[in-house]
Amino acid sequence: MDHFLYKNNELQAEDCQVAQLAQTYGTPLYIYSRATLERHWHAFDRAVANHPHLICYAVKANSNIAVLNVLARLGSGFDIVSGGELSRVIEAGGSPDKVVFSGVGKTVAEMEMALNLGIHCFNVESAAELEQLNLVAVQLGKVAPVSLRVNPDVDAGTHPYISTGLKENKFGIAMDEAEAIFARANSLPGLEVKGVDCHIGSQLTEIQPFLDAMDRMLALIDRLAEQGINIEHFDVGGGLGVTYDDETPPQPDVYAAALLERLGGRDLKLIFEPGRAIAANAGIFVTQVLYLKGNSDKHFALVDGAMNDLIRPSLYSAWQNIIPVKPREGETRNYDIVGPVCETGDFLGKDRELNLDAGDFLAVRSSGAYGFTMSSNYNSRPRAAEIMVDGSRAHLIREREKLSQLWQGEQLLP
Ligand code: LLP
Repeated sequence: MDHFLYKNNELQAEDCQVAQLAQTYGTPLYIYSRATLERHWHAFDRAVANHPHLICYAVKANSNIAVLNVLARLGSGFDIVSGGELSRVIEAGGSPDKVVFSGVGKTVAEMEMALNLGIHCFNVESAAELEQLNLVAVQLGKVAPVSLRVNPDVDAGTHPYISTGLKENKFGIAMDEAEAIFARANSLPGLEVKGVDCHIGSQLTEIQPFLDAMDRMLALIDRLAEQGINIEHFDVGGGLGVTYDDETPPQPDVYAAALLERLGGRDLKLIFEPGRAIAANAGIFVTQVLYLKGNSDKHFALVDGAMNDLIRPSLYSAWQNIIPVKPREGETRNYDIVGPVCETGDFLGKDRELNLDAGDFLAVRSSGAYGFTMSSNYNSRPRAAEIMVDGSRAHLIREREKLSQLWQGEQLLP
């Protein structure tokens, strides 16, 4: 459930009118709902309330510091993949001791920064990274808490670009090498083995791949225990899907209950890294129709938002619902909703039945995750403004980029 609903035939964001927000702040515009973010976070937290756990929101989904701050105030931890994300978490008031650091290519500088801040755990993805982290920790006179990301080799059944748990993917350590690398980690002075970790992909709508991965990881944890390596936590990664169209992913309580059942009596703290499940349906992307055009075959609505603002439709052929902010009575037409960028692949949606006129506002739903964070300045388009509504109040949480920011840091030749 989210808080973007029609009232008196007008789309609302909580108690604010979306059309009013679009007029005040301009378009293209991202609008997030605080109540929805909080609701989704609590759904996760409550689902594992009776078991030791940490919810580490995946910052990459939506990294605006206001979003991070809202979650930090609830006591959230964070899953980061770069020094930039770590800095955002700190800037937003998040606790470093609730941060897990994922990612296949951590640099020495990033390792130093995370060690100095005292993060909860490094999710190490290769033997080479393990050796590097040990060296950095020893040099700083610190001991790095580590978990090894193991690739359970299960098919997440999702889009190939966001499927990460198969052997052929670049992520994690192969299962058949895991025990040897754990033994090595256990022997190094700069490291302390804390956990095991996996993440098999994103936008999973079935529970079975999670359970298959868990079975393989629990068997590994048992084998490690036989070798005298005791694991304190199991990080199950993120990946729980959301409803964009007619998908019916398990709700967090059903998902968590299934995992807990599989866990049996094991005394393992669970770490979750949800991104999309918290942020996607807590945001919409609002764009205005500039022109309508058509020929005998096709009708196009040219809008002021484009692939540089919201790339998921172009990049993954992702389907996101596009709804009118003020629906019109009367006949609909079949439109492709396209942006001003000079690429055929620049579309927000295809074959949408809508009744439109120039000047209308459209809302692209489910845009709170992997929307703004994947945006760019392609075609020298300033990035969109972001606002967060909280009941009847709206807060500007990122101003629209100014034209002069487009070439900030660039230099002319002497
Ligand atoms: N943990 C790790 C290690 C990850 O790589 C990811 C996402 C997550 C957690 C969060 O996954 P989530 O709960 O959001 O599914 N840009 C793509 C999604 C890429 C996901 C990358 N990793 C999209 O727009 O669909």
